[in-house]
Amino acid sequence: MSALRTLDDLLAEGVSGRRVLVRADLNVPLDKQTGAITDDGRIRAVLPTLGALVEAGAKVVVCSHLGRPKGAPDPQFSLGPVAGRLGELLGAPVHFATDTVGDSARSTVADLADGQVALLENLRFNAGETSKDEAERGAFADQLAAFGDAYVDDAFGAVHRKHASVFDVPARLPHVAGRLVLREVEVLSKLTGAPERPYVVVLGGSKVSDKLAVIEALLPTVDRLLIGGGMCFTFLKAQGLEVGTSLLEKDMVETCRNLLERSGGKIMLPVDVVVADAFAPDAAHDTVRVDGIPSHRLGLDVGPETVAGFSATLSQAKTIFWNGPMGVFEMPAFAAGTRGIAEAITKADAFSVVGGGDSAAAVRALGLDESSFGHISTGGGASLEYLEGKTLPGIAALEN
Ligand code: 3PG
Ligand code: MG
Repeated sequence: MSALRTLDDLLAEGVSGRRVLVRADLNVPLDKQTGAITDDGRIRAVLPTLGALVEAGAKVVVCSHLGRPKGAPDPQFSLGPVAGRLGELLGAPVHFATDTVGDSARSTVADLADGQVALLENLRFNAGETSKDEAERGAFADQLAAFGDAYVDDAFGAVHRKHASVFDVPARLPHVAGRLVLREVEVLSKLTGAPERPYVVVLGGSKVSDKLAVIEALLPTVDRLLIGGGMCFTFLKAQGLEVGTSLLEKDMVETCRNLLERSGGKIMLPVDVVVADAFAPDAAHDTVRVDGIPSHRLGLDVGPETVAGFSATLSQAKTIFWNGPMGVFEMPAFAAGTRGIAEAITKADAFSVVGGGDSAAAVRALGLDESSFGHISTGGGASLEYLEGKTLPGIAALEN
């Protein structure tokens, strides 16, 4: 980590009048109907870096992805609304380019005055951004790099992607880590270093297959691993229980059985769940023991006894990492599990880290006090891959 040059190093050189290209992760959740930004946490998270550059008189050129458009413009993934929100938060207009590296981007960047901010249109409107072909990615990176005299990576949520703006641009420009990236790496390295014990990890979310690598990596390190969310049903099935029509990854049952056998009793699973007739906010629902899930119903949250048991374990913890909601928290009928676990984490006398876009959004959507967590990461996949001990392309690129 000491190898990382930081924003302060760049500021010390002086950036007044220089164009600074900032890769941010402004991939915010949008309301499916209205397209409105439902959680602006990731926009707020880059304000310290952008504010410092503005204050120092840089011409700030921000770029980001949003969603997963397929390498061509797609209006539903435009960063236009994000430019508006970013401007409100900065208290100054953000000059929005309607393309990423085309005429609009060129003139927007050329017209910037010192201390002004531009936002380029979605990086993923260009096939070169995510291409596996080095030459195609490189060609796009050349175009992006032409907009900066220096590069700042503050897109922690995207550092696990080997994408042009994350991996190839820093090879072309003087590069530093922004304040957010630095803080995220500092916090997560505490967890991979020597966390104060007991170290308890709570994992939720829908798919075991997404979390398998991190479970494998964490098992030797943690004292307890609490599993809820959609993924718990594959584990319950592995214990020989029937899970009705709950989410189930059949091809992962054997793997889960094996993990349970090797876990030395560290894995804790739900003892009760909330089952419903359908995946709908108004579906009829009841709480049942995990050995009594009816064949025609599906589990959408963990039950109160589970919350009590998990909370008791969390209350003893000195270090906590939480990734993934315990249930379908977006629907009030199935939010109690996630809320209960989040509250238990805030009450524990522990250093707590919330990892992941969804869990971070859950904290805010449930109206919980963000400051009662030690750190809320802006990275979902990125924080998990960091904990797995993987080399993150975006961090490696900054170290070179
Ligand atoms: C995220 O939301 O996880 C990051 O913004 C990365 O997005 P991606 O998973 O589409 O690469
Ligand atoms: Mg992701």
